[in-house]
Amino acid sequence: MSTMLDGSPRVSGHLHHSFETHPRQLVVLSVEPVTPEVTHFVLGDAAGRVLTSYEPGSHVVIQAGRKRNAYSLVGDGVNPRQYGISVLRHDTGGGSQWLHANLGVGSTVLVEGPRSMFSPDPTARKLLLVAAGIGVTPVLSHARAAARWGRAAEVIYIYRAGAAAHLDDLRTLAAEGRLDLFEAVEKEAGIELLRQRLRVQPLGTHAYACGPVDMLETYRREGLGAGWPSSRLHLERFEAPKQDPGREFRVKIASTGALLSVEPGVSLLQKLLDAGHNVANLCRQGVCSECKIPVRSGTVEHRDLVLSDEEKSTNTTMLCCVSRGTEIEVDL
Ligand SMILES: Cc1cc2nc3c(=O)[nH]c(=O)nc-3n(C[C@H](O)[C@H](O)[C@H](O)COP(=O)(O)OP(=O)(O)OC[C@H]3O[C@@H](n4cnc5c(N)ncnc54)[C@H](O)[C@@H]3O)c2cc1C
Ligand code: FES
Repeated sequence: MSTMLDGSPRVSGHLHHSFETHPRQLVVLSVEPVTPEVTHFVLGDAAGRVLTSYEPGSHVVIQAGRKRNAYSLVGDGVNPRQYGISVLRHDTGGGSQWLHANLGVGSTVLVEGPRSMFSPDPTARKLLLVAAGIGVTPVLSHARAAARWGRAAEVIYIYRAGAAAHLDDLRTLAAEGRLDLFEAVEKEAGIELLRQRLRVQPLGTHAYACGPVDMLETYRREGLGAGWPSSRLHLERFEAPKQDPGREFRVKIASTGALLSVEPGVSLLQKLLDAGHNVANLCRQGVCSECKIPVRSGTVEHRDLVLSDEEKSTNTTMLCCVSRGTEIEVDL
């Protein structure tokens, strides 16, 4: 074994495969439609080896044709031999449509992660898990982990009749007495159910919600109205509301002194990529935090949905796919 200059042993650069999170090819083991618009794909290692464990609520990033999209893992995350994802098809010619059209048993696909942005608080006395529509995927992961570890959990699932992915899985967990399940068909019933259940949770409960933009707004509003501290109302967004195009602003690149003009409707991320800066990015809508860049000076108009108020107030970082500003100098 070689040693570092300070005398400590040099650790091999090759991680054990069950700790791998870099982009790697996985094989499609099964493809199963779960609703007319949602398909469940099971991915595994070609040699059948165990995959990297993950915290409940984690996602992987998949090369879906020309797009890199995030998809939540639906398992409990412990020593998985398979990664299960359920993908809602958007007929926009994007990544979800590509996955539906191109992945069959035996196909390979480039997978990065798992990554965790929505993990449960270990100190929570109880988990209130709220899912609407395809937002059921990370919620199912939380529900399965809670069931595995015997944690108190309640699930609220709001869905359209005939379009409820994984309802059977949740009903099975409930029938086994592993969690309480409350169902609401259609939006109005869902709002009423949310209102009721948010008001009757024991102190120390943490809530985790995933679903469409309007449901998450209702969840926040009703939760705060019922006296929940916002620090216990966790949520994950798959998409963001549409934003106005904003005003033109100028950005200075600290390392080169170059100036960029960012026109209305164009993102700083796009300008940086066009100028040859290799900025990581994924959702391009301010919900994943991949495109965070350091800010040296100027005033940032934060438009993302992930940075905390505290992080935003320091003005030292920004998510350049959506945030804009005035006379900004970025540390690139
Ligand atoms: C952390 C995380 C986890 C996620 N987990 C899941 C998951 O488990 N399952 C899942 O299904 N998704 C999940 N998503 C969403 C997923 O990553 C993709 O955003 C989703 O599959 C849509 O990608 P796409 O490339 O098919 O859509 P795009 O083609 O990028 O379209 C996305 C949306 O943009 C709009 N749009 C695009 N083009 C047009 C057009 N020409 N006309 C009108 N509107 C248009 C539509 O509203 C459309 O629904 C997750 C996202 C995140 C950030
Ligand atoms: S790319 Fe996801 S927040 Fe910017």
